[in-house]
Amino acid sequence: MALIECLLSASEEIGKIYVLVRAKRDMTPAQRITRVLSSEIFNHHSDESKAKVIPLVGDISCENFDFDEKTLITIRDEVSVFYHNAGVIKFNKSVKEAVLGNVLTTLRAVDLAKTLPKLSAFIYSSSLLSNSNRGGLIREEVYKTKKSPLEMIKLALEEPSSLDKVAEPLSDVIEKHRNSYTYSKQLAENLIVEKMSGLPVGIVRPSLVCGFYNHYIPGWMGNSKGAHIGMFRASVKGMIRSLAGTDDALMWSIPCDYVIKAMLSFTVSLGYNKIASKQPAIIHISNKSDLNPVSCKQFAKYLNEESWKNPCDSYILLARVKVRDGIRLKLAVLFTFFFALLTYYPEKWFHLSPKWCRGMDIVSLQYNYTKVYKTQVSVIDDVSVDNVNELLYRMHPDDKAVYNFDVRNVDWRVLLARSISWLRQYYYKDSNTVTWMHRMVQYL
Ligand SMILES: NC(=O)c1ccc[n+]([C@@H]2O[C@H](COP(=O)([O-])OP(=O)(O)OC[C@H]3O[C@@H](n4cnc5c(N)ncnc54)[C@H](OP(=O)(O)O)[C@@H]3O)[C@@H](O)[C@H]2O)c1
Repeated sequence: MALIECLLSASEEIGKIYVLVRAKRDMTPAQRITRVLSSEIFNHHSDESKAKVIPLVGDISCENFDFDEKTLITIRDEVSVFYHNAGVIKFNKSVKEAVLGNVLTTLRAVDLAKTLPKLSAFIYSSSLLSNSNRGGLIREEVYKTKKSPLEMIKLALEEPSSLDKVAEPLSDVIEKHRNSYTYSKQLAENLIVEKMSGLPVGIVRPSLVCGFYNHYIPGWMGNSKGAHIGMFRASVKGMIRSLAGTDDALMWSIPCDYVIKAMLSFTVSLGYNKIASKQPAIIHISNKSDLNPVSCKQFAKYLNEESWKNPCDSYILLARVKVRDGIRLKLAVLFTFFFALLTYYPEKWFHLSPKWCRGMDIVSLQYNYTKVYKTQVSVIDDVSVDNVNELLYRMHPDDKAVYNFDVRNVDWRVLLARSISWLRQYYYKDSNTVTWMHRMVQYL
């Protein structure tokens, strides 16, 4: 959604934006796109501009996305830039599901992109964690997997498949990754190297994506269902009180608009740089220990203080998030679970709780977030950012004024304050004002 909005904002002259969509929960792809375009981030776009977004019914795991011949002719005729963002972003899936969701889908995208005569850029959204099985400095290059991605796809398609199980963290099946997701992202990158040599290909590796920093709707966080963002929205209502981690651990983070701006600049740079290369260009887009770091302790402090400054109209408890790890974290999760058990039947029978504070949802959010932290945040040492710096350096000053994605400019406290304000106004549909009543309740 964010990418579509930023593309529409990039230029009034932008052509059509074809979006692959599948039908879901009794909604047709056209209805899903209409719903997407009704989000507040599109409010400043005219109907004419929104009409440039064209849904294409299909499935990325099928050959040619299952498009009919007429659609294929249209896109081969018109498409010059291809963004491959789709994937399965779950850490508890079997190796088979991860390979089918992230590697087979990449194969289908690559195969289709290679048939586009006008292709000027193919951008793949990978992850900062795609090489999290390595220690030390991770460079902006593709690290070869032991197993071939095509071989893994073949194994995953077998019935029954030897990849049917959820792999043990750090096991050989997933080449010492912590989960099948990060392994499948590394395999997908290998596949791109194997299949797209000599084509204008870019791989973007973002860290944990937060809300919009500088945008018409600052703080926007999308559907807020992801574990990281879910934790955030529950914390401001005092429902989640534990930030999994250690005080000094780095929160590898990046605002969503910075990722998109980097992608757009990358697209232009690939389009102009016609020299065919054997390796895809890669950028890491994130903070790091020597580049505007924010620790878990600082993150919790900003979250608490900004939530107190701008409290929601209703909440369970005032925001008081603490960084917890080990047994303290387990006990906190257990306590939430027992509390949820106590309220389970009253909630079910009497519908006492509003949607945002159902006990079991909170338990699952806290549990998922804890898992995300363990498998994401504290697992890499350092990454190089030479390519992303070069991209920034080469930007025209006029473009830089609009598309600056230099992470040094992010004030994490301000980002959290903007996200809280967005949550109040758009997600919880709060008054988004702070009156003496809010203050009274706080100090009672
Ligand atoms: N979010 C982060 O913090 C983060 C960080 C680093 C990297 N990334 C990468 O960025 C990309 C986008 O992430 P996200 O957070 O935006 O994920 P997301 O919200 O879960 O979006 C993934 C999209 O892929 C689509 N998709 C999956 N399988 C499909 C299929 N077979 N056919 C058609 N569409 C399919 C899903 O469609 P439906 O809506 O129909 O399910 C969904 O819209 C991913 O590749 C992820 O690995 C994300």
